[in-house]
Amino acid sequence: MRIIKGNKIDLHSLKNSITKPEIFKKSTDKFWDDQYISGQMLKFHLNPEVEAASKTKETIEAETSFIIKWSNMDSDKRVLDLGCGPGLYVNEFAKTGAKVTGIDLSERSINHANENIKPGHKNIMFSKMNYLHMNFKESYDIATLIFYDFCALSTNEQKKLLLKIYEALKDNGVFIFDVVTENRKTFETTSISVCEGGFWSSGSYIEIVKTFMYWEPKTEGIQYTIIAEDGATRVMRLYHRLFGLEEITKMLNDNNFKVEKVYKNLKGEALSEGSETYGIFARKA
Ligand SMILES: C[S@@+](CC[C@H](N)C(=O)[O-])C[C@H]1O[C@@H](n2cnc3c(N)ncnc32)[C@H](O)[C@@H]1O
Repeated sequence: MRIIKGNKIDLHSLKNSITKPEIFKKSTDKFWDDQYISGQMLKFHLNPEVEAASKTKETIEAETSFIIKWSNMDSDKRVLDLGCGPGLYVNEFAKTGAKVTGIDLSERSINHANENIKPGHKNIMFSKMNYLHMNFKESYDIATLIFYDFCALSTNEQKKLLLKIYEALKDNGVFIFDVVTENRKTFETTSISVCEGGFWSSGSYIEIVKTFMYWEPKTEGIQYTIIAEDGATRVMRLYHRLFGLEEITKMLNDNNFKVEKVYKNLKGEALSEGSETYGIFARKA
């Protein structure tokens, strides 16, 4: 898309690129697997102090330790980490001796993960794959999807993914994931910045960020309109479905999973009223 036509700003296109999209409308361009953006994203994944593309090192250690304990992860288990990024969780899970597969859309993350498998960790496999298209059959004891990625999907994609996970798990297998809840405080906001190189491009660009709320289902949308100097425009959209406990429990039941335990997060902290996240442990029914 281009918002400069001839020597004029095409105000109609500009307006379209910043107005509230219909819920779950896709981005105009690649995000996770874009060559430049994935490089920026990898830097965030690997920063142990910042919760951005991955959680902080401290949180990852607390979560992996709780998940390992809860699921009795050991060398007899096979684990599938969906949207594994550069493998921060996979590497921890593999220390138990479990056979761990990490899959991710981002070629850059998968390459990094493969290049950094520790010597002796022959029980790890990374693969570039879209989890909505995976076709594993009763292969895994444990599947994980971490950092609220379930919330980024449309309702149809969520159902499709639950079916894929159901098929990938052995009988009695467990699906462990986290979601953002309806208790999260959200606001409709707008911000504009002019950047001389940054997250979206090494060249100069204008970034217009708008956040929107949707009520059916309750979802937060963030829309980034990125306008390059020549008027080339990309619109990137991310969503967070905000779940209530009953709602996510019903969705899991309807898709053949039984919720076994819900915590405040994947560190296993006790659920409290007003919790803004849930860490969910559900078993294949
Ligand atoms: C927020 S990051 C979390 C990464 C990792 N779980 C962690 O916590 O370190 C989301 C990851 O999911 C991946 N991803 C997004 N959609 C995907 C899909 N449809 N199939 C596979 N991976 C996907 C992205 O490339 C990214 O690495």
